[in-house]
Amino acid sequence: MSTRDRSPVFAALAIQGVVAGALYLLRPVVEAGIGYPPPLFWLALAQGLIAGIVTRGVGFSLPCVIAQLVAPPLLLLALALDLPGWIFPVILLLLLLVFWNVAVGRVPLFLTNRTTSAAVLGLLPTGPVHVADLGSGLGGTLRALASARPESRFTGLETAPLPFAMSWVLGKLSAAPNLEFRFRDIFRADLGAYDVVYCFLSPVPMPRLFEKAKAEMRPGSLFISNSFTVPGQTPDEIVEVADRRKTKLLIWRM
Ligand SMILES: C[S@@+](CC[C@H](N)C(=O)[O-])C[C@H]1O[C@@H](n2cnc3c(N)ncnc32)[C@H](O)[C@@H]1O
Repeated sequence: MSTRDRSPVFAALAIQGVVAGALYLLRPVVEAGIGYPPPLFWLALAQGLIAGIVTRGVGFSLPCVIAQLVAPPLLLLALALDLPGWIFPVILLLLLLVFWNVAVGRVPLFLTNRTTSAAVLGLLPTGPVHVADLGSGLGGTLRALASARPESRFTGLETAPLPFAMSWVLGKLSAAPNLEFRFRDIFRADLGAYDVVYCFLSPVPMPRLFEKAKAEMRPGSLFISNSFTVPGQTPDEIVEVADRRKTKLLIWRM
């Protein structure tokens, strides 16, 4: 297991720390070269750029790389604007409430796009089925599926507080009677209750989740993973989606 697998937040902060240290040490050299102290904003831009490149190099996803790129200049900007001190803990709290499962379970929040939702819709068996989205995020995938398949039931499980609250409210506003969102850890759910389980998580939870699915899901039910495979478990089918990120839906028939 790599450092990145153990704690991506720790690894990202460590990269920023090492780059900041290196730039601090190199500052006199740059100053000697250009004849004046390098402006702080340049250093912040350089820090973001180098941290972003290193972060990509060690295999982080694009959203993490973008966060690494923009964090130093934004922090400097916030300090320059002399924002009140309480704003930083509030921003940190909001980030924690949204990206709860990055820190806890190493799964970030990114969303299934519409083309992929449509492909998932095409994979649902005919007739009434019960479908779960494990880690349902803002709930958009299930809202689309629930309105397209009114005879079926759709359940989203989510533990990141803000995305869960948003999915719950948006679900209520959609007034779909066949749609529900539960504040529930996916590893505490009974997967035997579902005909189709869909997930879009990260490589980290997949082996444990697949073991759970194999133990609990009924014969004939479908386990669909967006993008992330299970080492040593060849999918029964792979659907290549015609979207920009060339999404692959990996399908196992239980
Ligand atoms: C990549 S997002 C996918 C969101 C949604 N399924 C979609 O496709 O648009 C993964 C979601 O899984 C949630 N998640 C990760 N681990 C979880 C767990 N153990 N229990 C519940 N939700 C979890 C995260 O908070 C995040 O919202």
